[in-house]
Amino acid sequence: MDIRSEINRRRTFAIISHPDAGKTTLTEKLLLYGGAIQLAGSVKGKATARHAVSDWMELEKQRGISITSSVMQFEYDGYCINILDTPGHQDFSEDTYRTLMAADSAVMVIDAAKGIEPQTRKLFKICSMRHIPIFTFINKLDREARSPYELMEELENEFGIGTFPVNWPIGCGIEFKGVYDRTEKEILAFTEFHRGQNKISSVKCSLDDTETLDALIGKNLRITLADDIELLDGAGYEFDIDKVRKGELSPVFFGSALNNFGIEPFLKNFLSMTMPPLPRLAESEYVDPFDNYFSAFIFKIQANMNKAHRDRIAFMRICSGKFERDKEYFHVQGNKALRLAQPQQLMAQERSVIDEAYAGDIIGVFDPGIFSIGDTVCEKGKTVRFEGIPTFAPEHFASVERTDTMKHKQFEKGIMQIAQEGAIQIFHEPHTGIEEVIVGVVGVLQFEVLEYRLKTEYGVDIRRRELPFEYIRWVDNENPDIRSLNLTSDTRWVQDFKGNNLLLFTSEWCINWALNKNEGLRLREFNRN
Ligand code: G4P
Repeated sequence: MDIRSEINRRRTFAIISHPDAGKTTLTEKLLLYGGAIQLAGSVKGKATARHAVSDWMELEKQRGISITSSVMQFEYDGYCINILDTPGHQDFSEDTYRTLMAADSAVMVIDAAKGIEPQTRKLFKICSMRHIPIFTFINKLDREARSPYELMEELENEFGIGTFPVNWPIGCGIEFKGVYDRTEKEILAFTEFHRGQNKISSVKCSLDDTETLDALIGKNLRITLADDIELLDGAGYEFDIDKVRKGELSPVFFGSALNNFGIEPFLKNFLSMTMPPLPRLAESEYVDPFDNYFSAFIFKIQANMNKAHRDRIAFMRICSGKFERDKEYFHVQGNKALRLAQPQQLMAQERSVIDEAYAGDIIGVFDPGIFSIGDTVCEKGKTVRFEGIPTFAPEHFASVERTDTMKHKQFEKGIMQIAQEGAIQIFHEPHTGIEEVIVGVVGVLQFEVLEYRLKTEYGVDIRRRELPFEYIRWVDNENPDIRSLNLTSDTRWVQDFKGNNLLLFTSEWCINWALNKNEGLRLREFNRN
């Protein structure tokens, strides 16, 4: 197959959800369709099962959780699909956000009984910032669910996007009869509770064929369905593929991941509506993914997968062309030619060394400590530099100091290196003379990772005191006179290690106070590097 055809068949997307909405179950079912895994349960057998497959980090083993996001590739119907997993629960971190930078579209899984939840909200924000297509899978229809209208309305009002239900649920919970496919005009019948077993039948049937419908779903549901579809066709959003691709209209699917119901139609529609890898911006010019020219950017660095070797793996998203294992490439930020050692791809939990990869793919390469998040690697000769990955506002803060006063150097080096890898953000109070380091993280588990790594890699024990701040904002004004700002007494001024000014707030109320009392003050939630 030529490069163009290889790239054309790539689809790279992230799955986002609030914990427990069914992201893992959906991923697992998608992988089953692709034949990538043999057994359900191998994506993230919670707790114990995971120990057997993950050898990446001691802490990971101890806690039975995945700290960093992983990538899975599978083939289906001629497509080569890359799924980026975004970690949730306590392991929610800045990596979760960064992963979204490597995706061309996102699938948002929502629990039909709960609707939008806090983590969905945060992740959606990042996706919409990039204007990538967002597909919604409303899950767990086999349980009692909220009204589908209410769920649509919530998506539209909270996220400011249009919704287009590609299918529509017929009942829910014990009354769940299946979904009506609006394009095919057929019913996909959920005939009984068939945990994991595929006993789904599709019935092509006009909504006017009342007799067949009554036998299939009962009179009451048939009447409700006919009314619903009439209303949707008349008053709902029209399907517009351009709007879908700009992230303005979200195609919505109803189903039940656990019962493997509605997954295949979802996958088929998803593949037909999404695009091959999208062009990426590099210094005001877009790089064409179909160009023969290889280019990629690093969106994640996984440190110390093997403690004995202090190795790091840099994950890069290929933006254009073809990657070849033994070829020499150019690391733009390091201004150096290099061969990428041990290029690997992940298939479910397995890592395998690869010889080639194409635009849209994610590869992990051995990093001897030269890469930073956001760096570009490209063909030698002609250099491009992709836009950096933004730094996202941490939400948890702690003041950190070493317990052993002798270990000043190790402490400084360790904390700086870990911050440069992007696992934590560090701040200090300017002009106070206090040696305290303020650490900010997106997910609280990162505090434990920091403590663990400082101890095991740098031999430093730390004392951590949690701080009451919940919000941080970058001050966007040039040369701001922070001291003369009118701020609430619990707002704190800090700087990051690049010297940027930031404000720490304990509540949204304090942010509003700062904005209302200081004309012209501009605050940002993330920082473009
Ligand atoms: P997450 O990755 O988004 O955190 O969610 P995950 O897939 O782990 O699913 C969370 C729980 O919801 C799991 O149950 C899972 O079996 C269940 N679930 C997922 N999809 C459906 C669905 O369509 N219908 C129903 N009824 N349940 C669903 P659990 O009891 O927490 O875990 P487990 O013991 O089943 O693994």
